[in-house]
Amino acid sequence: MKIRFILASLLLLSYSLLTVSIEDDVKCLEGIQNSIKDPDGRLSWSFTNTTVGAICRLNGVTCWNETDNRIISLTLSSMQLSGQLPESLHLCHSLQSLDLSENSLSGSIPVDLCKWLPYVVQLDLSNNHLSGPIPPQIVECKFLNKLILSNNKLSGSIPFEVSQLDRLKEFSVAGNDLSGTIPSDLARFPEESFDGNSGLCGKPLGRCGRFSGKDIGIIIAAGVLGALGSIILGSLIWWWFFVRVRK
Ligand SMILES: *[C@@H]1O[C@H](CO)[C@@H](O)[C@H](O)[C@H]1NC(C)=O
Ligand SMILES: *[C@@H]1O[C@H](CO)[C@@H](O)[C@H](O)[C@H]1NC(C)=O
Repeated sequence: MKIRFILASLLLLSYSLLTVSIEDDVKCLEGIQNSIKDPDGRLSWSFTNTTVGAICRLNGVTCWNETDNRIISLTLSSMQLSGQLPESLHLCHSLQSLDLSENSLSGSIPVDLCKWLPYVVQLDLSNNHLSGPIPPQIVECKFLNKLILSNNKLSGSIPFEVSQLDRLKEFSVAGNDLSGTIPSDLARFPEESFDGNSGLCGKPLGRCGRFSGKDIGIIIAAGVLGALGSIILGSLIWWWFFVRVRK
């Protein structure tokens, strides 16, 4: 009798946990839809069909399994979306792949992004208007295989923590406003991964602090001007003492 009661409560509990998680992924999409600006109506997702698996057919949404509502990937690239990365992403807890590339998203990369999406394997935020630093907390996305942040307005240096993402196979921060030294463990990625950041230096780009051709030109010009200046000054002093004073 008791056992049966316990079993029944366990069943009820697991059922309620399941419904919570099913609702979570729906709320995640609703939150994205409500917070992101979508002038072309590409996210005109409808949630009226409450059958399990119905959200898996929405534009850009892929589920782990059509028989439940857990979203594995969101591909919302080239949709003219603007606004900030929505906090409701934390309700898409089983997400492994997020592609928001080629939109007009702005604001910074949320410090808590990896708390929201701890299992993310592929993250592509390229070709947007994201600004601010790359948060060191990116290291908490420890399953990241692919991290593409190219062509935004990210600034500051590349945090050392990025080099601790040891599963990283694809990486790019090209075309941002980053500066400082590239963490040495990231030198295994090609130059193209770092191109287009005027302040960035270190392998695989040029050495930091080395004089460029332009710098050398300025140094030579300054030297020549300085020498000419001393000669003129010397002549003037000589003229003053030996020619003018003697008159
Ligand atoms: C609701 O979604 C289910 C599962 O995707 C689908 O089989 C069904 O046809 C949908 N119902 C309506 C009314 O669209
Ligand atoms: C999908 O879910 C059903 C029911 O939970 C399960 O029987 C099936 O094996 C799952 N399929 C995959 C590919 O995980």
